[in-house]
Amino acid sequence: MTAALAVHDLVAGYEPGLPIVRGAGFAVEAGEILAVLGPNGAGKSTLGKAVAGIVPVASGSVRLAGREIVGDPAHRMARLGLGFVPQTDNVFAELPVEDNLDLAAAVAGAPRARRIAEMFALFPDLGRQRRLDAGRLSGGQRQMLAVARALVAAPRVLILDEPSAGLSPKLAQLVFDKLAEIARAGVAIVLVEQNVRAALALAGRAIVLVEGRVRLSGAAAALAADPRLGDAFVGRGEAA
Ligand SMILES: Nc1ncnc2c1ncn2[C@@H]1O[C@H](COP(=O)(O)OP(=O)(O)OP(=O)(O)O)[C@@H](O)[C@H]1O
Ligand SMILES: [Mg+2]
Repeated sequence: MTAALAVHDLVAGYEPGLPIVRGAGFAVEAGEILAVLGPNGAGKSTLGKAVAGIVPVASGSVRLAGREIVGDPAHRMARLGLGFVPQTDNVFAELPVEDNLDLAAAVAGAPRARRIAEMFALFPDLGRQRRLDAGRLSGGQRQMLAVARALVAAPRVLILDEPSAGLSPKLAQLVFDKLAEIARAGVAIVLVEQNVRAALALAGRAIVLVEGRVRLSGAAAALAADPRLGDAFVGRGEAA
């Protein structure tokens, strides 16, 4: 079976000759959630952004449903089915909820009215607050809107950078529950997270990134019980 997203030996960074992601790879299937974990500064966000076409890629491969997309501009990747939810600045705070979705749908070339109605069915709280400026939503609802903005394009792969950041555990769980529902609908999800335990509880598999490389990978349940997991976060131990 062709992976929904397959990343091989990716080298990427912000400046030429200064790689942050240093030969990382992973694959994720339709309906699967893959957690991307690792200590601060490991390159998790850079990996997500490089895959999504926002950070320059020096070498390596990114295949979306078998098609090579590395080097494509971000807007083209989006049209090919790759959704990306950045950690910050992921909604237009000064625009109403509905306009946020409408803009995202327009950019994606998606059937706007139908997709927005689907988003309000999936996120009823957003439907109830459709005329409210996004900046006035609660943190949890705002994160839901950021996810909905990516979903209007009907992506087959959704990459999220720390969707639980700044949320209470209860609100974070609501976001995670929604991600599980989205995955059950067949979307492949790549979840970059600081919240290791919650991410491992949600994901089927995980990778642990250290210094731009995959230090550990495997089934989430096995990693949760692996003593090397803690070592990776405090900088002890070498690649196994
Ligand atoms: N816009 C940028 N320009 C230059 N260097 C950057 C930029 N963003 C991040 N970096 C550098 O890239 C490295 C990895 O950062 P990155 O944000 O990918 O890590 P991370 O694993 O997401 O960390 P965190 O857990 O803190 O979110 C860091 O050394 C950081 O200073
Ligand atoms: Mg980050």
